[in-house]
Amino acid sequence: MVNESISEVLDRLENQSKLEKTRKVEVASEDRMLAITKETGELFNMILRLKNAKNMLEVGTSTGYSTIWCAEAIQENSGKIITIEKNQKKIHRANKNFQDAKVSDSITISEGEAIQILSKMSTQNTFNGYFDFVLIDADKENVIKYFDLILPMVAIEGVIVTDNMLYPEKYRESMKIFSEHIKKNPNVRTITSPIGNGEEITIRLK
Ligand SMILES: C[S@@+](CC[C@H](N)C(=O)[O-])C[C@H]1O[C@@H](n2cnc3c(N)ncnc32)[C@H](O)[C@@H]1O
Repeated sequence: MVNESISEVLDRLENQSKLEKTRKVEVASEDRMLAITKETGELFNMILRLKNAKNMLEVGTSTGYSTIWCAEAIQENSGKIITIEKNQKKIHRANKNFQDAKVSDSITISEGEAIQILSKMSTQNTFNGYFDFVLIDADKENVIKYFDLILPMVAIEGVIVTDNMLYPEKYRESMKIFSEHIKKNPNVRTITSPIGNGEEITIRLK
């Protein structure tokens, strides 16, 4: 059972997301939530619980909907989430949502361009094999670069999930190329799941 403060914020964000997706509210493109679906949030929450995850990385915070689903599970393990976002307005909204949901203590927002932040992190020994769970959900153009920078930072048996494998359809072809790129790597196992917008679920084997 999700606690009251978290479920209130998740409900509010789900309503907003529905209004945006059905175009019942007009929102400037840079302000849109572009959030994962509820069932995807539930899946991430379950994976984090199954893995007893302590350290999570997210690329693409937006207003924090996916982060809050994950924080609900990880905080029970006294775990921490680092989440990367470049849009200041969204960072402000995410921080407010984290406060309302009472999950701020588990989350650090890393502000800036994902490539620069990930490149810097990848040179720090601390992050070698560090993350139990990673969500890649920012711009799709750089998804292969993000994956290649992130993989060494993932623990053996750690999980990387990438959103938007199937929807919106405009990304489908490039995301297929991304999936084929992952499949060439003998150190991982990966599947494209039709849940939500299509989730690539990748496990680091060695
Ligand atoms: C699909 S949304 C993330 C949705 C969020 N994970 C959720 O489900 O609630 C993608 C976010 O990535 C951010 N973003 C896109 N390109 C980025 C980049 N190069 N560096 C950092 N953030 C980026 C966007 O500003 C946007 O808020």
